[in-house]
Amino acid sequence: MNGFRLLAGYLDAARQQEVVQAVLAAASAAPFYRSETPAGKPMSVAMTNLGALGWVTDRNGYRYQPRHPGTDRPWPSIPDTLLQLWRELAEADVDADACLVNLYRDDARMGLHQDRDEADFRYPVLSVSLGDTAIFRLGGETRRSPTRTVRLASGDVCLLSGPARLAFHGVDRVLAGSSRLVPGGGRLNLTLRRALPAPSAANAL
Ligand code: SIN
Ligand code: FE2
Repeated sequence: MNGFRLLAGYLDAARQQEVVQAVLAAASAAPFYRSETPAGKPMSVAMTNLGALGWVTDRNGYRYQPRHPGTDRPWPSIPDTLLQLWRELAEADVDADACLVNLYRDDARMGLHQDRDEADFRYPVLSVSLGDTAIFRLGGETRRSPTRTVRLASGDVCLLSGPARLAFHGVDRVLAGSSRLVPGGGRLNLTLRRALPAPSAANAL
């Protein structure tokens, strides 16, 4: 699908370590928690967020909000090393303001969905895979579009932009024990996004 870019091995081992440490240090003030879908189904992935806004889901729906639902404190900032990555790859005129951190342990997976709670789809979704390899499923712009699977290994970065920005995607499963990067095992996925409108649009409001 056009607009999907997989940069296999973009982060070398040292940079992977650096990112994991920075994210886990930041997340110590915003503990991972288990969410439920608007329909009340518990998610198998544990989540937290970094940045001015964090993506949350509960019985009130999907949305971005400035505070951790458990601690009621603002989300920690996005570490510089990740903002740097966004500046390297996103081709955006503004920094990311949201970084969703997903932790896959045991049999965690993620059903097919679109990322569509952001204000401006001209900004990409930049996804970083760390730890165990994921079997990622990528489809098209409708739920019924054909899908294919892509293996996402530790250090791989992918971008969903242009026609792929609203592509359905999910994680079928994670290959447990395929990496030793994440303390306690499993996979961390970071998705950097711009949730708020472009600055000029915000000024015009
Ligand atoms: C997501 O779509 O939020 C996560 C994707 C992934 O874990 O690779
Ligand atoms: Fe997603």
